Amino acid sequence: MNTYSKKMPPKSATSDAPIGIFDSGIGGLTVLKMLHELLPGEHLIYVGDLGRSPYGTKSPDTVKRYARQITRYLLDRGVKLIVIACNTASAVAGDDVCRAASPVPVIEVVESGANAALDAGPAATRKPVRIGVLGTEATVTSAIYVNRLLELAHERGMEAPVITQKACPLFVQLAEEGLWRGEIPDLVAALYLSEMRAFEPDIVILGCTHFPLLAQTIAAALPSETVLSDCAPSVAQIAKKILCDHGLSAPSTPEGKIEFYCSDSGQAFRRRAERFLDMNIDIVHHVDLESYEDEEGKSAHTGRH
Ligand code: DGL
Repeated sequence: MNTYSKKMPPKSATSDAPIGIFDSGIGGLTVLKMLHELLPGEHLIYVGDLGRSPYGTKSPDTVKRYARQITRYLLDRGVKLIVIACNTASAVAGDDVCRAASPVPVIEVVESGANAALDAGPAATRKPVRIGVLGTEATVTSAIYVNRLLELAHERGMEAPVITQKACPLFVQLAEEGLWRGEIPDLVAALYLSEMRAFEPDIVILGCTHFPLLAQTIAAALPSETVLSDCAPSVAQIAKKILCDHGLSAPSTPEGKIEFYCSDSGQAFRRRAERFLDMNIDIVHHVDLESYEDEEGKSAHTGRH
């Protein structure tokens, strides 16, 4: 799935329209941070679906429904671009989001994550390159990274990488709890990553946007030569290119505002987001995402009862 290259923003889109970014919780802030650093003039609207997180343990149908609701909300806010800052939603609902958003362009993170990992490949001395993928249960089950990595390696004329995956759902909870370093995350990392360590990967893809928050912990549990690959820098570059190509870039001054929305109480979110982004957040707004249910979601819901 390459969701970003062929879309044209609607004719009515203007350069001062916001960019919408979403995740199940605080993980997508790792992407928002890069976007804000590279595109400081852009107005960003971030939605953290804390009331219904985690996504990684939910069924694809449920994640699709949630992702479509958030898309409808962001479209309602007049966004010029949507960034799915969540690997789980990208893996299982990327096509749904693109369909719902069209013609507004959508950037999903899996394609960028797979490309970024292959870009890091030449640094590896061993051939074929050995790649580990860490993600949620849903992302790992979808095998989207394995498939994309093999396809992209083939397109680049590279030898097929050797790939192994590991679902690490507790990393999501640790990230949300603010337990990014210390004894407990070290124990969880040792438990999850012993086989990955033995696999001796050249590159490990942080295939969940929550995981960069635990990067130090994850790195310490892996061989010291292993390179950790995070999609956020390349997602920001892609966003910049799309906006430039369509004449939709906001001027870099004055600094663009960042708005935060949560489907649950924003208190905990605000504390963690302030710590991670190193900025004051005056307010985290509440958003009722269920009220953005589409007809497909309504009939699926009715069918379940
Ligand atoms: N941060 C998300 C991801 O990249 C979702 C994690 C979750 O809610 O389970 O997959």
